[in-house]
Amino acid sequence: MAFKDGFLWGGACAANQFEGAWNIDGKGISVADLCTNGTKSNPKRITTKIEDNTFYPSHEAIDFYHHYKEDIALFAQMGFKVFRTSINWTRIYPTGMEEEPNEKGLKFYEDVFKECKKYGIEPLVTLSHYEMPYALVEKYNGWASVEVILLFEKYCYTVFDRYKDLVKYWLTFNEINGGITKLGTVLSLGCVKDYNGPVVEADCSPQTRFEALHHQLVASAKVVAYAHKNYPQFKMGNMNVFLTSYPRTCDPLDVLENQRHNRVLNWFCSDVQVRGEYPSYMNRFFKENDVNLKISEMDKVILKEGTVDFYTCSYYMSSCITTHDDVETVEGNLAGGVKNPYLEVSAWGWQIDPDGLRYSLNEIYDRYQIPIMVVENGLGAYDKRSDDGKIHDTYRIDYLRSHIEAMENAVEDGVDLIGYTPWGCIDLVSASTGEMAKRHGFIYVNKFDDGTGDYSRERKDSFNWYKKVIASNGKEK
Ligand code: BG6
Repeated sequence: MAFKDGFLWGGACAANQFEGAWNIDGKGISVADLCTNGTKSNPKRITTKIEDNTFYPSHEAIDFYHHYKEDIALFAQMGFKVFRTSINWTRIYPTGMEEEPNEKGLKFYEDVFKECKKYGIEPLVTLSHYEMPYALVEKYNGWASVEVILLFEKYCYTVFDRYKDLVKYWLTFNEINGGITKLGTVLSLGCVKDYNGPVVEADCSPQTRFEALHHQLVASAKVVAYAHKNYPQFKMGNMNVFLTSYPRTCDPLDVLENQRHNRVLNWFCSDVQVRGEYPSYMNRFFKENDVNLKISEMDKVILKEGTVDFYTCSYYMSSCITTHDDVETVEGNLAGGVKNPYLEVSAWGWQIDPDGLRYSLNEIYDRYQIPIMVVENGLGAYDKRSDDGKIHDTYRIDYLRSHIEAMENAVEDGVDLIGYTPWGCIDLVSASTGEMAKRHGFIYVNKFDDGTGDYSRERKDSFNWYKKVIASNGKEK
């Protein structure tokens, strides 16, 4: 048996992509609430104010806020051992700057976590998943300002205290290294004061980007250290988007370029979060990109004291890196890359590469030797109803099966893998395009991109398939 007893099978969602109820019970406006919908060819925008007659998909999303009991009951039917969700910072501190938390927001998550516990489902909670209060963008240009660290700490300590008996597993920042990509400028760093336009085109200088990331890394370490000191029962994790890349050719220059790319994109943030210090290879990168970080002695101590207990990542696809011209490019999660002739692509142009997951898990474990969870993985696809009225999502089952086989192999290779939470276990709004049509779920939600739909839920074929996978601890797939 590859997967160990007690392996944490489950699913993952994020507050801003499925809760809806964007202005209910005292919730403030987050960055996501100002993002419009879009498509692959018509990019979603961020606006500085809520515009009349513009559709903002997070406002209703799939209304988990009012359907959480039904949804968690369905997760329980599949046999989930763990459910990854996030807390919307703006439900707890609507602008991020209040002195006192919003009780109704706190109560909502308490009810959600209690509902999970009722079925023996362990909540795995992301503290920040693309949900920064927009008021902090307006006042501070998001994470570009050091002041945001204290505000984030206040929010984290509030929720740690409130949920200390309900939540054991915590992740600090979703896909923290996503802040290195252009899309992360809006979603993760919030460095978009006064910016109104396509999310993919928002940008900031390398100086601002790496300063903002430094603030997140320090904030992450501070809350991890605080949790270790005050709540020794907690297990604190990082969360990285793992954007596996291969040299496109065996030209040594391609190999070197791929190494450089990987260090900055895939390893830098987790090296800090797992090892507790900036890796030396970043010095050259900073020099070549005119980045001057003020890392104080105190910051160094904080980073060292706030290292994580387990490593987590999302994994969807891979791409290639080359120094040669004349190559085809492909899309990807947060960042695309060069096409790999050996791989198929999804309808959104993401290259499907289960072996890349095995390879990546081995690389990660070789580097850190701490437990690993894959907390996002899955296939965004157009689901169509068949003549019998059902959704037969065999393509999704095939994708997930191949990735579970890859994880099984990685475990046999020696990786200490402790859990798997496929993304969007119930259909939700896409982070990159703002679409509902890009569905990942085992559970179909009757909600569409024109805002119509009655929010009813139904099981896809993958629902029963995943139920069997969990019941057999990964043997039957
Ligand atoms: C990850 C994010 O990058 O990928 C999720 O953490 C996101 O928030 C997921 O939803 C899938 O991407 P998309 O763009 O299909 O929603």
